[in-house]
Amino acid sequence: MKTNLVLTQPQNKIAALGFMWNMLHDPLHTLTELACEKGDIARVKLCRQELFLLNHPEFIEQVLVKQQENFIKRTSEQHTQIILGEGLLTSEGKENLAQHRIFQSAFHRQRMEEYLPAINENTFAHVSKWQTGARVDVSTEMIRLTLYISLWLFFGCVTEGTLERFSKSMPTLTRLFPLAPLPNTVHKLFPKFIQARADLHQVAESLLKNSQTEGKGILISLLKENNNGQFTNEQIHAYALTFLLAGHEKTALLLTWCWDMLAHHPQVQEKLQAETDRVIGNRFPTMEEIQNLPYTNRVVKETLRMRPPVWAIGRQALKDCEIGGQHIPKNSTVIVSQWVTHHDARFYDAPYQFLPERWENLEKLPRYAFFPFGGGSRTCNAEHLAMTEVIVILTMIARRWNVSPTQVEPATPTPGVTLRTNKNVKLIVGRRDV
Ligand code: HEM
Repeated sequence: MKTNLVLTQPQNKIAALGFMWNMLHDPLHTLTELACEKGDIARVKLCRQELFLLNHPEFIEQVLVKQQENFIKRTSEQHTQIILGEGLLTSEGKENLAQHRIFQSAFHRQRMEEYLPAINENTFAHVSKWQTGARVDVSTEMIRLTLYISLWLFFGCVTEGTLERFSKSMPTLTRLFPLAPLPNTVHKLFPKFIQARADLHQVAESLLKNSQTEGKGILISLLKENNNGQFTNEQIHAYALTFLLAGHEKTALLLTWCWDMLAHHPQVQEKLQAETDRVIGNRFPTMEEIQNLPYTNRVVKETLRMRPPVWAIGRQALKDCEIGGQHIPKNSTVIVSQWVTHHDARFYDAPYQFLPERWENLEKLPRYAFFPFGGGSRTCNAEHLAMTEVIVILTMIARRWNVSPTQVEPATPTPGVTLRTNKNVKLIVGRRDV
């Protein structure tokens, strides 16, 4: 494959400020432009630091896999530690590897069979309540459903008021997240931030207590299976928070984007329904059936390509290194962006069109031209769980409901910590006659 390698010269201060401004206001467009103008490695000099955007799959693999020991998560991402404590999302090095090993066993493909009943039952209970002709706020519905499933799976219970307290504290924490790295004296000026953080910790504590008393949930099994006294109370608490926060929002976002796409592409919706009717019908799906839904899989992959919930990954260089002939100085920031690479016309024809069929002919796609779950030692260890959940929820809704849009255009991607919709996606649902 031809590698388009164009190194940019360090820019002047005004250009650097302009770049920062554009990044704050429209990061998707800014990164895409940078990649188009500068090629596979774009270099921007920002005051004292350098930033590199790497756009070629081979270079992405270097950062995430082959040279992973040269990079750590960006400091801004580590600031989540102030909210989460030392859990899997925030640890580094040997500590992170050890935690990954422990968690991998819980999220292994073979364990999905155990988790399927909770996913099936919660989804059925949830979508059976919809009324034909109703305008459903899919964004809110998917968040509630995936949170409910997470609570059942990870903690084996939903304690009273959990959903409400959690749903109240999360928007405040997300909005005020930039405060996290600032000292406690500054936090005190924002009582809402302190309150939301305290609420979140209380929710985790009450879930943990209940789960320990009942002896149910993935978290408790993990602690039992691996507890040779190596977990402190703080670590257990941090794990509980990681489970609460790490995944359900991304899973909900992916589902919301899928439904937005399906509502605006009725032929795709019909094909997905036909496959669901044929393979699963009115029963709850088995793991075997879930793995036998090629078209549904393509729809999910195409949505992950066009609307990756994690749209960019940032790393900081621990030491001087070299990628694709480019010297990367210690402390530089390196960005690899799913958004940019998943829309690269070298790998995808008509990259801005939603075409699930394209996945029939993409066997030769370079490994890191598609990396919605990251890669290397920090890869998402819950990929199988997320995919199982998404397929069950999609097929269970598709079997029972037709969805149609309330807006002419699909939602606009809005990047924050994750790739959200610019406003909540609302769709009209109609009961299928099956
Ligand atoms: C569609 C859903 C999801 C997507 C697209 C997604 C994507 C990702 C990506 C790209 C990373 C790597 C970040 C990096 O390299 O810096 C990651 C890490 C992680 N994900 Fe997911 N994820 C999803 C669902 C979940 C779920 C359901 C969980 C459940 C707990 C989860 C737990 C984690 C954890 C703990 C990490 C951190 C691993 C580490 O830093 O060592 N994810 N995820």
